[in-house]
Amino acid sequence: MKVLVIGSGGREHALVWKLRQSPRVTKIYCAPGNGGIADEAECVAADVKSLDSMVALAHQLQPDLTVVGPELPLMLGVVDEFTRRGWRVFGPTQAAAQLETSKSFAKEFLHRHHIPTAHYAICDSPEQVRDALPHFHTPIVVKADGLAAGKGVVIAKSKDEASTVANQMLSGRMLGEAGARVVLEEFLEGDELSFLVVSDGERVAPLVAAQDHKRVGNGDTGPNTGGMGAYTTPTIIDDQMRDWLLAHIMRPVVAGMKDEGAEFKGVLYCGLMMTARGPMVLEFNCRFGDPETQPILLRLESDLLEAMEASIDGRTSDGDFKWSNDSAACVVMASGGYPGAYEAGKKINGLAEAAQVEGVKIFHAGTSKRDEYSYTSGGRVLGVTARAADLETAVQRAYDACARIGFDGAHYRKDIAARALKKD
Ligand code: AMP
Ligand code: GLY
Repeated sequence: MKVLVIGSGGREHALVWKLRQSPRVTKIYCAPGNGGIADEAECVAADVKSLDSMVALAHQLQPDLTVVGPELPLMLGVVDEFTRRGWRVFGPTQAAAQLETSKSFAKEFLHRHHIPTAHYAICDSPEQVRDALPHFHTPIVVKADGLAAGKGVVIAKSKDEASTVANQMLSGRMLGEAGARVVLEEFLEGDELSFLVVSDGERVAPLVAAQDHKRVGNGDTGPNTGGMGAYTTPTIIDDQMRDWLLAHIMRPVVAGMKDEGAEFKGVLYCGLMMTARGPMVLEFNCRFGDPETQPILLRLESDLLEAMEASIDGRTSDGDFKWSNDSAACVVMASGGYPGAYEAGKKINGLAEAAQVEGVKIFHAGTSKRDEYSYTSGGRVLGVTARAADLETAVQRAYDACARIGFDGAHYRKDIAARALKKD
């Protein structure tokens, strides 16, 4: 079976690596892929911002299955278009993807279906922001409605700051179209959790939960990023909590989307804050998380392809995934300056030495390959991921590997999973 994976990040490297292990996969393409993916798949050029480009590529390659990594192609309707043409594709339609592509849609959906989430106000103008602000305590979370690659959320310490940020977003200066509408939100405190399921539009198959580290700096400081590292353990949540999340959040979301005529197939990613009032939904993504997918797939023992096909064919079941009892952690190595402006084209040293560390798998994100050497080509460069019988060892292995890798300006957080390790 020929599989085409769309995307070019660490998540897509992990998807390619795992899908290749399926005995039914005979050929795997990745569009456009990256320097590391090129070792495991045939990378083919494509513009993931253009539906026409993806259609032309699939027409040429004739894959038996297309797996969409990032959100943008889903927002453009790649699943709708491929399905219309009779091509098999894993992921949600454009309408279902609104759970991620419009934060106001997600908030109103949650409200309609009585699913716990932070208090909010949707604002289309500075006047609406001014009228809404008195109803909030500080800090206030200001979110751009549209897609902003993890950079559309600002936690404002004062109402003045919230007003300034919201108005900058609304003016289009900060994030373009994505900020034409903003959501103001109550600030929630607690531990964050990423809980993902695969759905066939009706049933769900849970993945193991993970925790991302969104801020760029140690101790959760500095601006938000796409994610600087993640971990997963068998005890990150207990069975009772998993069942609660399935019963009160994931299944009601899937049922609600079906009732509203926008059946959700594919990966439903729920970002949660585990507050003193119970779990609350922070956001949805309609795809695998990056970097959560890297450690999650290191623990997956069953066939990912089978679970994807079950989703497409409407036969998802609870037990579609089998997991190891190991823990896994991923440390993201980023370019100097990320999440702001950064330089690319730096030579990466030590990859082979790092890969020797027991239990380590290095997923490439922003890399390209020239004359046998890897060079940086993006903000998040590598997802150095390790598996071990316990979290402490997994984290240590990931950091041992990071210490062997060098490139000009490289930085990474030194405290991935540190809070979980302290609790043990
Ligand atoms: P989102 O894209 O909505 O998940 O927001 C990105 C990140 O901002 C989250 O992962 C949280 O770290 C933070 N965040 C979002 N909403 C809230 C909230 N209501 N309270 C506290 N932190 C939040
Ligand atoms: N790690 C957060 C995301 O994938 O959006």
